[in-house]
Amino acid sequence: MKGRAAPLDGPASGWRPGQFAARIIGWQRRHGRHGLPWQQTRDPYRVWLSEIMLQQTRVATVLAYYPRFLARFPGLQALAAASLDEVLALWSGLGYYSRARLLHRCACQLVAEHGGRFPETVEGLSKLPGIGRSTAGAIAAFCFGARSAILDGNVRRVLARVFAIDGDLGRGMAQQALWRLAEGLLPATRLASSMPAYTQGLMDLGATLCLARKPDCARCPLADRCRAFALGDPGRYPARRARAQRPAEALWLLLAQDGMGRVWLVRRPAGGIWARLHCLPALPTRAAALALLPQPARTRAVQHPMVRHLLTHRELQLHVLHACIDDAGQPVDAAGAWHASSAWRQLGLPAPVRRILDALGP
Ligand code: ADE
Repeated sequence: MKGRAAPLDGPASGWRPGQFAARIIGWQRRHGRHGLPWQQTRDPYRVWLSEIMLQQTRVATVLAYYPRFLARFPGLQALAAASLDEVLALWSGLGYYSRARLLHRCACQLVAEHGGRFPETVEGLSKLPGIGRSTAGAIAAFCFGARSAILDGNVRRVLARVFAIDGDLGRGMAQQALWRLAEGLLPATRLASSMPAYTQGLMDLGATLCLARKPDCARCPLADRCRAFALGDPGRYPARRARAQRPAEALWLLLAQDGMGRVWLVRRPAGGIWARLHCLPALPTRAAALALLPQPARTRAVQHPMVRHLLTHRELQLHVLHACIDDAGQPVDAAGAWHASSAWRQLGLPAPVRRILDALGP
């Protein structure tokens, strides 16, 4: 972060103490989102579940999954008592399955070691599996009125613009400075009501007005104090990070179908990508994938156009080999089984594999 931006609200920044929080809270009450199901509760189980689901998934998608998950697992005890497979199956389609694994591990740990209760502080919450500092801050603020900051991607963008913070915000020093800034802006009074409204307000502002591409500054409650707006180019903040090149890895997926349209799925091993999910057989070469097919399906196999799938640190180049095995044969892969669409739709599948199967039609 460069030194141009005055760090906190207060005389040096042009903000009166408490003014930033008051603007956010006032705007949230009048213009923020209010009908979301996880806003109707202070139950830490429900808030925690929503925050984990919302980490990498849009609100519209989570709205479909959240009630279904709660109907099956209404509380920590039920979730901890379930098998990981069942949790993965209910998570199916949300992607980023490590969230589901950590969610289950967290529930087990809370039941085994914390008497089935969530800690009420950021420090306690952030020691739990899958709960980082920002998620801990959100849970503590929403459920316990704690004076705890959040700093997800949306909030980082709001702060970078209001205080015209230049440079790569991902660097350690910048992160520390942003956390200090976020903490310095928190409401100081009536925390039980102000902290939930403030936290939700920051999220709502980042998600509905202070958008990455087309910020709607005309409706923003901070525009008259926003340095990026005053400088005439709010979209310039935060600086776009040069994306690290992700190494590419080719994977050959065998899409074998029998005469009834069922697909052959195997279970992924416990380690590595897509751990424990059901999947099409995935091989490092075309020859290895073809070798799983009995003749004559092997010679009839057709190749689909390559699909790219980004993981955090690499790019998968997925080649699908589609083969029909009509005559009571099966791929030479003893660990798999045939699955009708009604069956595979219920399973935990990697997102690109689900898309490939969805494209087969009903
Ligand atoms: N994204 C993360 N947390 C959220 C929340 N509580 N409401 C809406 N979007 C969110």
